Amino acid sequence: SSSDYMELYRPQIHFSPAKNWMNDPNGMVFLDGTYHLFFQHNPLGNDWGNMSWGHATSSDMIHWEEQPVALKRDELGDIFSGCAVVDKNNTAGFGQNAMVVFYTSAAEFQQQSMAYSLDNGKTFTRYEGNPVIPSSLKDFRDPKVFWHEESGKWVMCLAKGWNYGIEFWGSENLKDWKFLSEFKSPIERCNKGQWECPDLLRMSLDGKERWVLLVSVNPGGPCGGSGTMYFVGDFDGATFSPESLDYPQWIDYGPDNYAGVTWSNTGDRTLLIGWMNNWNYAGATPTSVWRSAMTLPRELKLISYEGRPLLTSTVVDEINGIADGWNDVASGVKMGVDKAYHLRLTLPTTENGSFTLRNNAGEKAEFILNAGAKKLLMRRNASTGNVSFNNTFSIPAIQAPLNTENDFVTFDIYVDSSSIEVFSENGAMAMTAIVFPGSIYDIVDSGNSTDVKVRNLKRIH
Ligand code: FRU
Repeated sequence: SSSDYMELYRPQIHFSPAKNWMNDPNGMVFLDGTYHLFFQHNPLGNDWGNMSWGHATSSDMIHWEEQPVALKRDELGDIFSGCAVVDKNNTAGFGQNAMVVFYTSAAEFQQQSMAYSLDNGKTFTRYEGNPVIPSSLKDFRDPKVFWHEESGKWVMCLAKGWNYGIEFWGSENLKDWKFLSEFKSPIERCNKGQWECPDLLRMSLDGKERWVLLVSVNPGGPCGGSGTMYFVGDFDGATFSPESLDYPQWIDYGPDNYAGVTWSNTGDRTLLIGWMNNWNYAGATPTSVWRSAMTLPRELKLISYEGRPLLTSTVVDEINGIADGWNDVASGVKMGVDKAYHLRLTLPTTENGSFTLRNNAGEKAEFILNAGAKKLLMRRNASTGNVSFNNTFSIPAIQAPLNTENDFVTFDIYVDSSSIEVFSENGAMAMTAIVFPGSIYDIVDSGNSTDVKVRNLKRIH
């Protein structure tokens, strides 16, 4: 039943709604010790439709408590993706520390609307002046707002879908918005799919400020379908100027991390969660009474790799709160884990290698390290479990760059009932893939990997 979260394929350490459809994470904000996660949700069924904001809360981004639906369709349209901020200085006049959310009102046109909550997200009041950014564009959505201290204003990023652009708008009071600039990719090959769900992040690299612009594209991702690219550069309060890198750069090389954006109001930590799915097959994944889960929450950092900025992601430290101690793993033998686990192993990068995760029914996920290409490959095919629900789900080889110059690479692998998330050391590479084996892969054939260790992760329900 949905109340015990034990259905076939039900995630045990990831957020998934008790029932019905979910897509993008929305409105993530940290307020009074609580992490909020809103999400694109159909409260009435297991397919995309009736777009509303579902809601969940957590004290650690790992254990989630689902709350009543926060925003439902209104006379301006569906409630599409958006964000939340804490209005510390009461710039909007709704009250000090009001939670102010922005979303796209989607109907014939896509316009930007606002609502606020004075009771920590329990109830929302729509702003009477909606839409705050009226428009007659069909592709203009997914507002993400942050406070830009130097210019004393709020900045909103908006995506232009098939027009491949991100617009920046500015406001002093969250109500009146002025166009600032439009970013277009300097590299033609980034102009693919629809541009959606932007986020502009202030980060630092070797003590110097850098800005990172996230843009989700669909289709055109690294495995086909959905994917999230990023540009690194500078932002002067009005215009984003990218550094010349070899774009697109991807925040994740697997097929299933989309529409991810970051939490507001988390100080120096940059915390992202993504929708662990892909529009190629999201509507067909073989689960009921719910559809889709979020990725594990991740902390993003910038490092220098081969003289260039590289965005890294690691699972947030809060994951330790559900972890048991480490145990050694013997190849080909059941690991003795419950429903989810964290596996760590090391492979040489100087020779080809492999390892396999499997269950005793013979379902498996095979990993291959290609030393020449410096890549980790994962096969997702008829052997991994149920793939028959959509013909784009089988991928001959998911390919992720190792992003290391070292002679050995350590992988941190988080396995749940229907997902695998792989991170190379320091998070220099992330690869996320959903899988549908009849039972969890609880055996590792370790191949030429060494130092194979596992720690059980306790279910969050
Ligand atoms: C991304 C997206 C957003 C939109 C939402 C609608 O997955 O297409 O651009 O706001 O989903 O559910």
